[in-house]
Amino acid sequence: MVCIQVQGKTITCDRGENLRQVLLKNDIDLYNGQASVINCRGIGTCGTCAVEIFGEVSQLQWREKARLSIPPHSPQTTRRLACQVKVLGDIKVKKYDGFWGQGSQTVWTES
Ligand code: FES
Repeated sequence: MVCIQVQGKTITCDRGENLRQVLLKNDIDLYNGQASVINCRGIGTCGTCAVEIFGEVSQLQWREKARLSIPPHSPQTTRRLACQVKVLGDIKVKKYDGFWGQGSQTVWTES
């Protein structure tokens, strides 16, 4: 088991689980505003599940890299798409503002 600190909660999951699925299953507000309704349901194309992650997760793959290279994200971003991330160790997750979570203002942190 690994621990995820997110939005004031500490939740656990199996190593290798999909981050988006774990967060939604635990009622974490992964999406900002209407993005909770208008999103690609985890296929990696909308970019609205973007978060900042501290800790060990899977490497960036082509689909995620491609989406994060398109505005409003940018190739220089440190954000990850929760739907494309496997949790590999204990992590902390932070969400930023904007429809895609691309902003610079924090919406919530791990605590
Ligand atoms: S849910 Fe659409 S990119 Fe992650």
